[in-house]
Amino acid sequence: MNNKDVLFPVVYHGGDYNPEQWPEAVWADDVRLMNEAHVNIATVPVFGWVALQPDEDTFCFEWLDRVLDTLHDGGVAACVATATASVPAWVDQKYPDVLTVGIDGRKRKHGGRHVFCPHSANFRRLSTGLVRRLAERYKDHPALKVWHVSNEYGNHCYCDSCAAAFRVWLDDRYGSLAEVNRRWNTSFWGHTFTDWSQIETPTSNGERSVQGLLIDYDRFQSWSLLQCFKAEAAVLREIAPGIPITTNLMGPFKGLDYHEWAKEMDIVSWDSYPRRGADPASIAFNHDLMRGLKDGGPSFMLMEQTPSQQNWQAYNSLKRPGIMRLWSYQAMAHGADTVMYFQWRRSRGGCEKYHGAVVEHVGTSEPRVFREVAQLGRELSALGNHTLGGKSPSKVAILFDWNNWWAVEYSSGPSVDLKYVQQCQAWHTALHSLGIETDVVSPSTDLSGYRVVIAPLLYMVKPGVAKSLEAFTAAGGTFMTTFFSGIVDDADLVTLEGYPGELRKLVGVWAEEIDVLSPAESNTVVFDTAFGDLKGSYSCGMLCDLVHLETAESLAVYGEDFYAGMPALTVNRFGAGKAYYVATSVGNDVMASALHAICEEQGVEPALPDRIPVGLEAVRRVTSDGQSLLYLLNHATATLSGRLPEGRYADLLTGRELSNQFEIEPRGVQILRKLGK
Ligand code: GLA
Ligand code: ZN
Repeated sequence: MNNKDVLFPVVYHGGDYNPEQWPEAVWADDVRLMNEAHVNIATVPVFGWVALQPDEDTFCFEWLDRVLDTLHDGGVAACVATATASVPAWVDQKYPDVLTVGIDGRKRKHGGRHVFCPHSANFRRLSTGLVRRLAERYKDHPALKVWHVSNEYGNHCYCDSCAAAFRVWLDDRYGSLAEVNRRWNTSFWGHTFTDWSQIETPTSNGERSVQGLLIDYDRFQSWSLLQCFKAEAAVLREIAPGIPITTNLMGPFKGLDYHEWAKEMDIVSWDSYPRRGADPASIAFNHDLMRGLKDGGPSFMLMEQTPSQQNWQAYNSLKRPGIMRLWSYQAMAHGADTVMYFQWRRSRGGCEKYHGAVVEHVGTSEPRVFREVAQLGRELSALGNHTLGGKSPSKVAILFDWNNWWAVEYSSGPSVDLKYVQQCQAWHTALHSLGIETDVVSPSTDLSGYRVVIAPLLYMVKPGVAKSLEAFTAAGGTFMTTFFSGIVDDADLVTLEGYPGELRKLVGVWAEEIDVLSPAESNTVVFDTAFGDLKGSYSCGMLCDLVHLETAESLAVYGEDFYAGMPALTVNRFGAGKAYYVATSVGNDVMASALHAICEEQGVEPALPDRIPVGLEAVRRVTSDGQSLLYLLNHATATLSGRLPEGRYADLLTGRELSNQFEIEPRGVQILRKLGK
């Protein structure tokens, strides 16, 4: 696997290009416009399977030869897609085993895209066969820079082939049916399986009450689709070694355990489509999560974003002038080495004809969107290789785990408001508002480089994780976890040693009961003694653990109800470090104040010396040449100013030098490189 720090020579700027949807006469014009837009990479042909192989024995690569040659002649690199995302109608017609069964138990007919059964032998044979021809044909093409396998994997299948493969997967994982029954606690409600053949896929008209089964089915489907990716990647590696391989991920997408996926990818890439009115902090969380798939570095590809609008939301508003540029630099601040769009040219028909593109239906370089893309392209090419690669400088990590996500949300009770991503995001947002960079990483990551580790809602504690958290804390780190943590093992069996189970010793508390408040109800957290700038009473809600101190001390207590006076925030000295337990859901202001105090104690310095003005994002990125770049991004509609950390800086975008103070216009971006030592 290719793990070089910097894979690309410059910031690649471009995106999905679907020339097979246009008459050939348009292609030359495309490349001319690409040059005008400073586009230097095009992804082809994501949906080209049927155009490359109109039936099982006919292959038509000549058109793609001409596309790649035209791109190359125009100085545009190619991200070559394996085209296996869009299964042709002839495949489904000839080999019905490729068609999936949905969660409703019904076999699908041909249609849509990305739908194939991961255990269909015909799909595997035909897809890898196409990939082999593609790789052989283009392995030495000078335009080829990256392989893009399939597209946005994620569709789960519930068919009989999947059921058969699931039984084998379970046998491999647990070794016997008896062990499966034990780990899933199937004696509950008399769900004991007495023969492997009784285990079916969890369709909505079937077995969806055994939570261990549901979690394992998601693990299994994630693994199954990953086998499809690996099968294509293996062919590419065999024939064209050295060309980096990726597939485009989707941020906090629930259906795939991306930590497992990232291990197989040379570079992570992902598609960022913030919803209308998205909080910039939530976009930052997604970038940090995607960068964190490779433990905080190296960098990732922004494979898709819309230059203007989407078509699949209820109201597809335009990105206002400057937003596309701002969000592109935001991605780079968080680790992106490419800025790419879906798509190059707006399609003329089909369900995405109202999706934004670099080239609007008018087909010229006149529109605002084109001009903004071209302006950004000009800037990116002037940056050369100065922003690339590197490792994130974060000293703070938030732990994120897909299996835990599934487990929390398959859990019936205690509250429907328990949303895992929201909880992780909330802690991340608090850090973001403080100007503290965060890696969002797997609980199994090596934590030794961090000073502060936060595990919101770590309901499922997998083997080895409690020990690793103890070692991290004992060595002087600060650990923080919250309510509804430490409850179950990796098969969703409750740890019978009192909540928070395996984390009990580390946090030094026993949570005897869990009270649940509806959104209309609240309690208070009262700080009699100041903790940082927290003093007095703050609202809390959702879940309230009724906590007893063991070795921990209380920092704040509940203000109301029959558990008034019981601890709501505790700290436990553990070796050379400290472990905090947040027993209830608190507001963002409380999180930010607590984290400010904790980070300060740990010597974690924020990106700016003073409080970060609302709307400003300040992020440091250390690039591969060891330079620390300070990105300042103004998401607000007013000019913002403030004090810089000591030193003199040059803005890479304007060449202007500055020190002491910065001032940044609405939607403005500065990339500050420190001068001298
Ligand atoms: C996804 C897909 C693209 C396109 C865009 C539209 O990210 O990968 O092919 O459909 O959505 O937003
Ligand atoms: Zn299937």
